Amino acid sequence: MTVIGTGYLGATHAACMAELGHEVLGVDVDEAKIERLAAGEVPFYEPGLPEILEQNIGSGRLGFTTDYQQAAEFANVHFLGVGTPQKSDSYAADTTYVFAAVEALVPLLKGDHVIFGKSTVPVGTAEALQKRADELSAEGTSVEIAWNPEFLREGYAVHDTITPDRIVVGQRDGSTASEIAREVYATALAADTPFLVTDLATAELVKVSANAFLATKISFINAVSEVCEHTGADVTQVADAIGYDDRIGRKFLGAGLGFGGGCLPKDIRAFMARAGELGADQALTFLREVDAINMRRRTRMVELANEVLDGVLGHRVTVLGAAFKPNSDDVRDSPALSVAGQLSLAGAAVRVYDPEAMENAAKVFPTLEYTESLDEALDGAELVILATEWAQFRNMDPEYAGGLVKDKKIIDGRNVLDVQAWHDAGWEMQALGRNL
Ligand code: UGA
Repeated sequence: MTVIGTGYLGATHAACMAELGHEVLGVDVDEAKIERLAAGEVPFYEPGLPEILEQNIGSGRLGFTTDYQQAAEFANVHFLGVGTPQKSDSYAADTTYVFAAVEALVPLLKGDHVIFGKSTVPVGTAEALQKRADELSAEGTSVEIAWNPEFLREGYAVHDTITPDRIVVGQRDGSTASEIAREVYATALAADTPFLVTDLATAELVKVSANAFLATKISFINAVSEVCEHTGADVTQVADAIGYDDRIGRKFLGAGLGFGGGCLPKDIRAFMARAGELGADQALTFLREVDAINMRRRTRMVELANEVLDGVLGHRVTVLGAAFKPNSDDVRDSPALSVAGQLSLAGAAVRVYDPEAMENAAKVFPTLEYTESLDEALDGAELVILATEWAQFRNMDPEYAGGLVKDKKIIDGRNVLDVQAWHDAGWEMQALGRNL
């Protein structure tokens, strides 16, 4: 098989498919990226991926190229994992790269081929791609577009790809694409992984609906958080208590700075935009509120820092975390970096430390001060903000940290610290959704 687009999704899919025993060729137009991958180097932080990349390049099952002709000749099964970022002038997703990949590949194909789209796309894209493929394919060649959405989480990408919790294949009437998918995912299917065959639009919708639901769940608890802040109630206890109801569940009720990353924010916006185009705009107007609640958490954090320091201007604030979540070096729409940036623009002297995301953060916010270590970040701080819950921050020793800072003041932006231990060590603590 080929995997077209070797970003986060594609590089992981390519390496994991090779790990499962398939012959895989990764394809991308970015020569620098392909060179690095071919040399066994993962251009982003993802635990476990460097090992399987290297092993499978070594075994000869995994290769990389920028040459579409080679891709066309290599396989009859193709996976499409190129990016669908938010358009610069609207909420909609930009599907340029998805179309570009199909337009580059299809004219070169001979025989019977299936292209499984994995990218997150607006509903209706697969059908439009099929039309484009029909226009571009040579006589005697058949190219089918099917949709196989990807649900992997950054930080757990290898695990989620090799042992997914479900496999969804969207296909047109009478298609046998799902039979090919069954062969591809034979290992997961042998372990009784649910396998759902749907039409194209349903498969596209499954993906955005899942992300919209997750975003809504987080914003729900963060809305409760706002109410807690006005009443003195404790949002973490509310979440624990309602989470015991297994219809609700405790997962994704982590109140705090809210969601970021390359997926949830852009996906809820693209979903709203698409619903509008389809004439169903009222159906998803609540997602606007989900987005707004999420963004208000960042503003609230900046307000809280101003309250604690009686104005942040001229004060030394340390922000722990730059990645949008732990176990990732991804800073796309990162709540942590947004807060650090806002504080800096408000005149605070901001120091940032993150175990993995410093290089990416410095590209987005070059004006912030980045330190080499946690200790250096804490040194002389007047306020510490825990913005991304890396284990290194969650497990900080409050006694030791207290010896480094100037003032023992901390805001737990992710509600992960042991309040008692920090209080016992003499820290003044604040959190989102709790009066500590
Ligand atoms: C998300 C989905 O979880 C994946 O299933 C999906 O495949 C992926 O998007 C995608 O579309 O590619 P990911 O963006 O890696 O995965 O991150 P999540 O683990 O979902 O976290 C998203 C954000 O929500 C993070 O900023 C995290 O800090 C935040 N979050 C998560 C909370 O604020 N509270 C929670 O309780 C959980």
